[in-house]
Amino acid sequence: MAGGFRLPVSVLFFLCLSCALQQPSGAWPRLKWKCPVGCTCTNDHALCQGTALVPLGLPPGLVSLSFVQSGIGKIEERNFFHLPRLQLLLFNSNTFNIIRDNAFVGLLHLEYLFIENNSIKSISRKAFRGLKSLIYLSLANNDLETLPVDLFQGLPALANVDLRGNAFHCDCRLKWLVAWLRNSNTTVEPIYCKGPDEYRGRKLNSMNPRDFDCITTELRLYQTLPYESLSIDAFAYLNEEYVVIAQPFAGRCAFLEWDHVEMVFRSYDNITGVSTVACKPLVIRDKLFVIVAQLFGGSYIYKRDADSQKFVKIQDIENHKVRKPNDIETFQVEGEWYFAVADSSKAGSTTIYKWNGYGFYSHQSLHAWYRDTDVEYLEIGNKPHLILSSSSQRPVIYQWDKGTKRFVRHTDIPEMEDVYAVKHFKVKEDVFVCLTRFIGDSKLMKWASSMFQDIERIPSRGSMVFQPLGINEYRYAILGNDYSLSQVYRYDVAKGTFVSFQELNVQAPRSFTHIAVDNRDFIFASSFKGKTQIYRHIIIDLST
Ligand SMILES: *[C@@H]1O[C@H](CO)[C@@H](O)[C@H](O)[C@H]1NC(C)=O
Ligand SMILES: *[C@@H]1O[C@H](CO)[C@@H](O)[C@H](O)[C@H]1NC(C)=O
Ligand SMILES: *[C@@H]1O[C@H](CO)[C@@H](O)[C@H](O)[C@H]1NC(C)=O
Repeated sequence: MAGGFRLPVSVLFFLCLSCALQQPSGAWPRLKWKCPVGCTCTNDHALCQGTALVPLGLPPGLVSLSFVQSGIGKIEERNFFHLPRLQLLLFNSNTFNIIRDNAFVGLLHLEYLFIENNSIKSISRKAFRGLKSLIYLSLANNDLETLPVDLFQGLPALANVDLRGNAFHCDCRLKWLVAWLRNSNTTVEPIYCKGPDEYRGRKLNSMNPRDFDCITTELRLYQTLPYESLSIDAFAYLNEEYVVIAQPFAGRCAFLEWDHVEMVFRSYDNITGVSTVACKPLVIRDKLFVIVAQLFGGSYIYKRDADSQKFVKIQDIENHKVRKPNDIETFQVEGEWYFAVADSSKAGSTTIYKWNGYGFYSHQSLHAWYRDTDVEYLEIGNKPHLILSSSSQRPVIYQWDKGTKRFVRHTDIPEMEDVYAVKHFKVKEDVFVCLTRFIGDSKLMKWASSMFQDIERIPSRGSMVFQPLGINEYRYAILGNDYSLSQVYRYDVAKGTFVSFQELNVQAPRSFTHIAVDNRDFIFASSFKGKTQIYRHIIIDLST
């Protein structure tokens, strides 16, 4: 290894050069050096054994310097700045465990760096910065589990790296090394993974960066709105995205818009009322309607007036039909617009309204006396269906009858009593439903030719919402919880199930709604007893 050395030309020449560099005034030229205690020196070589720090006073023209069993405790920034002629630096059997950024700065001629059989656990990302001439680097026989990203960048002469004898943990943090091993021309002796279990004993040199799945996601709290809420809906109107939030205690539909400059959601407008339980937006041919359901004081339909830029009340919803509204669903069948109001009063009846070009009129009453809590529109095999959840019986599935243009009772969901709400999602042609139970097991079910069948059960301890959400290629289901933290599940494609993924602290959540603006994804979490929370969906690459 020392074969590549050039002999020092003249000790005196180096001395004068370094004197001139260090003492520009020339006031105190030192022509002699004294070998520090604990080292043995010649003009161009020093071996230190009994020193805890990099000693000062070494021959400034040193070409090689070794620390062997020296008890040296650490290597820090610019430790060798005073030895610019070094070509070889060796550390063996010392006790230090960390190499910090810029440790070797100034060593423009260093070609060989051996840091072997120490206890190195951690190397900073820029530890080797400035080593323009480095040919051979050894970090063999240390305690390295990982190496920081791009550790070997900026080492244009590097031809050999020895990393043997470390306990590499082959996870996303080493993905870069696997890619580097494949692409670089540097020779690297075979190295093996010590962990994790699935990779133990694998040869890093022949792994593929694709072996590592390093992309994960997170819901991160982004903004908090200082009020309670029930339904939250996102909608697009005249090319802008909006959110409308039902505030039960303030009695308001609060509309928010995205502030493209401040990057927050801000108030856009309000519809004021009393005990507002749902504000359902419906855009028909560029006209915005809002169905406002209230527990007291009646329910109404508003329209956005383009001239005055205000919401104006255009119609009442019949009081004798809608007594205690709990949920509103909008949908389109055969090109016509409808909405359905789930009525949870004993005497009320869930009713479907139809748009006739001027207003909405009642089209069909379903299901009197059952105290419905939720209505969900979905298509199964391209056929329109409604699922009604009730306090008093199993969820009932209605199917659209083309002839009468009415929904007719089709079947129910077996063995599921006390379902508060049903929400569906589709994966290609497969139809899934998330069924919420307050106490007991909430369920994920899948449509199989003529009925829904169990896929997964998830225990509910105070749940009023079990909401499936698709964000880009990620699929989630969030189970709200009134007594504990809400659970976010993420669909694991490999396992084919939802797996527990994150917890959210929302007080008494009632809905989770996704909105995409400016290439950002947000989830609004309503809260019946606390603040409304907005989370941002973040994609994280663990390998960088
Ligand atoms: C490694 O260093 C320890 C002291 O830190 C020493 O006892 C041991 O002999 C060294 N092993 C090798 C292979 O150099
Ligand atoms: C490796 O060497 C080849 C042939 O000399 C060269 O074309 C290529 O750019 C080199 N790759 C790197 C990453 O330096
Ligand atoms: C909506 O109501 C809230 C609460 O009173 C108020 O702070 C906000 O300014 C209102 N928004 C608009 C656009 O009037």
